[in-house]
Amino acid sequence: GGDLGGGTPQEVADKPTKGLADVVAASTALSDIDGKAGRLFYRGYDIHDLAGRTTFEETAHLLQRGSLPSRAQLADYGAELVRGRALGTLVERDIPEIAERQTPMEALRTLVSLAGAEDPDKDSNAPEANLRKAARLTAQQPILVARYHAARTGATLPETDPELSIAGNFLLQITGRRPERRAAEIFDTCLVLHADHTMNASTFAARVCAATLSDMHSAVVAAIGTLKGPLHGGANEQVMRTLEALDPRGVAQAVRDRLAAGEKIMGFGHRVYKTEDPRATHLRRMSEELAEASGDDTYYRMSREMEEVVFAEKRLYPNVDFYAATVYHYLGIPTDLFTPVFSVSRMSGWTAHVIEQHADNRLIRPDSEYIGERDRKWVPIDER
Ligand code: ACO
Repeated sequence: GGDLGGGTPQEVADKPTKGLADVVAASTALSDIDGKAGRLFYRGYDIHDLAGRTTFEETAHLLQRGSLPSRAQLADYGAELVRGRALGTLVERDIPEIAERQTPMEALRTLVSLAGAEDPDKDSNAPEANLRKAARLTAQQPILVARYHAARTGATLPETDPELSIAGNFLLQITGRRPERRAAEIFDTCLVLHADHTMNASTFAARVCAATLSDMHSAVVAAIGTLKGPLHGGANEQVMRTLEALDPRGVAQAVRDRLAAGEKIMGFGHRVYKTEDPRATHLRRMSEELAEASGDDTYYRMSREMEEVVFAEKRLYPNVDFYAATVYHYLGIPTDLFTPVFSVSRMSGWTAHVIEQHADNRLIRPDSEYIGERDRKWVPIDER
């Protein structure tokens, strides 16, 4: 033991993979990635067949309840989502103060935790209770983001419009204007594209928590805290900050300089995809469309240039966060709400994973490789 410099083939094979790369940590029927071919599936449906044709509400139903809904099922599920939007008194009361003291992702972590205290099914992990909680959490997440934003800006929050989808209502409440039909469609597609993604860090965190038979709100709070980091969901905000900081005429050189200095360029690279992320294909297209419609395509053109340079220098492809940044920007979403938007969508996947984990549970408790000193002699405190 303790020898880190090689060892027998078995010892080498037993060595942990840093960051658990290629380790299969769970079985799931929710999503599947082919990293070499650049393909993503939700419950067997190709993301390219879902994006632009299936709404976020249908996608959430697919993940949480197992099937693309019929019209009748969608009407029932939609009504459950509308009812589920209502926030409890504790959350309502504390939003203003939380909005003053916490950044958006911190606030969501706090507010979802508070919502857990008021959930009618708070003391149950029964399958039916978890389905109801999953719908409520999915319905409440966009409302929490909108309420937080209204509280910090002092804006009056527009009432949700029963004619609009979750995507449409979110744009309405964040921008204060009824979104154009195409803008709502594009944002809806963004939510579909972000809904689930196998054992990404936040979903893994949710499953570890759920596997102790803890409750769904606790698991989702763990996931929100994990999504917040810049190596995961926080990257979309960082992409926009990079674009804002760059001189549009000096993009290529600036990116080369950053890479030469060993800096990571946010929005590029992926643990699993070795080719283009299929979600980025859709997001690039939507970014281009919105850029043209906006009359100022500077950020889109800069993004294309960044993409070319990063590929030429590093053979890295854009991930989901790269073009999501400009799409959200053109839709009028404030930059510091980009990661919360990710959570609005991923809530559908996290909750589905908790349901799946509880359906066939075993405690998730991996091993670690000890690399510290051994057999040390204990010394009394006065002799240290
Ligand atoms: N910019 C520059 N170089 C990069 C980047 C990048 N964005 N990503 C990876 N590399 C380089 C690394 O420096 C490393 O080079 P080396 O072998 O010379 O040391 C090599 O590519 C492998 O990268 P790792 O960081 O080891 O890859 P890992 O699988 O651990 O990390 C991750 C994947 C975290 C996504 C990484 O690519 C990264 O940090 N990207 C930027 C942050 C980002 O966009 N995150 C969002 C990911 S998608 C999501 O969460 C929704």
